[in-house]
Amino acid sequence: MNLVDYLRISLIDRCNFRCQYCMPAEAALDYVLPPELLTDAEILTLVREVFAPLGFRKFRLTGGEPLLRPGVVDLVRELATLPTTEDLALTTNAFLLADLAQPLYDAGLRRINISLDSLDADTFDQIIGNRGRSRWAQTWAGIQAAHRVGFDPLKINTVVIPGLNDGEVEGLAALTLDRHWHVRFIEFMPIGNAALFGDRAWIPSEELRQRLRARWGLEPASVRGNGPADVFQLPGALGTVGFISQMSECFCDRCNRVRLAADGWLRPCLLNETGQIDLKTALRQGQPTAELRDRVRALLTLKPEINFKERERGTGDRTYSRTMSQIGG
Ligand code: GTP
Ligand code: 5AD
Ligand code: SF4
Repeated sequence: MNLVDYLRISLIDRCNFRCQYCMPAEAALDYVLPPELLTDAEILTLVREVFAPLGFRKFRLTGGEPLLRPGVVDLVRELATLPTTEDLALTTNAFLLADLAQPLYDAGLRRINISLDSLDADTFDQIIGNRGRSRWAQTWAGIQAAHRVGFDPLKINTVVIPGLNDGEVEGLAALTLDRHWHVRFIEFMPIGNAALFGDRAWIPSEELRQRLRARWGLEPASVRGNGPADVFQLPGALGTVGFISQMSECFCDRCNRVRLAADGWLRPCLLNETGQIDLKTALRQGQPTAELRDRVRALLTLKPEINFKERERGTGDRTYSRTMSQIGG
């Protein structure tokens, strides 16, 4: 059985972008209302008294867009200073990062993953569903700020969608030639608004690797991380290119994570809610954290059976209609 020691904590389900593939079509869906969000104190109690004692050492803050959560810097500081936290990271779209990069770093965050699907302002605006003034420049400024402040590793996540941004793979990979950046190409998963993109919405990572091999060559490499990316390097590059291939090479067998949703539900799998636990309600009803620990431990024992593949076979809960912004990336 895999060691499950990586908790992804969604801080908020709202986002300031409307990525077509991620947010529900009707934007103001059933957002979690503020009283239903876990408070900072509740998150800290859960980490300290439930997850850390069960061996969790790696934590990633996600959303929606986690930088939209009021007080995010203070929460980062609290989590970073817990003696049991070996790795704390955050996944963001970088729109608010220009101002927050330094405070987050000062609070103890060292590792950041940034979603960026295009280097072209028009394509970028199209993908993020922006019809007003372009948001490209502010996003790029956020990435530059993270770079200047010294986040390391600094990773860029690109979901590759045929006809939208698949022509940019070489351009994005080239960012790693003279920067210590780590660009990861993600196979699009058919969840949320997937119908928008038809049946063949994802490109196998191997196809992208062949393109990069033909242009530059590819060498095996590694970079610090807890996720499922396969990592390579363009010869002589400062950074790396990674591939997250959940469609072509299901990695559920080596899954090491569970997810705490913004509303306090603990989910054993991105795409399968079997056995999920409402930790917020339990806490608010005064259930002792020792009991919560037992319930979480039991869920972890079941986890190898609760995965994406099980759902594909049709035996697990159907969570296709949930979007990434709701599940927490
Ligand atoms: P590192 O620790 O830096 O390796 O981060 P990570 O890859 O774990 O986290 P990140 O938030 O950057 O996630 C990148 C992408 O991996 C997500 O956008 C998803 O597409 C995919 N991903 C993350 N977690 C899961 C998961 O549990 N299951 C599946 N199928 N895909 C996941
Ligand atoms: N398939 C793969 N990745 C997705 N993301 C959002 N929706 C999907 C999907 N359907 C990615 C974002 C970001 C992370 C939080 O999740 O691009 O990198
Ligand atoms: Fe927001 Fe990220 Fe989803 Fe885009 S992919 S809508 S930036 S959470």
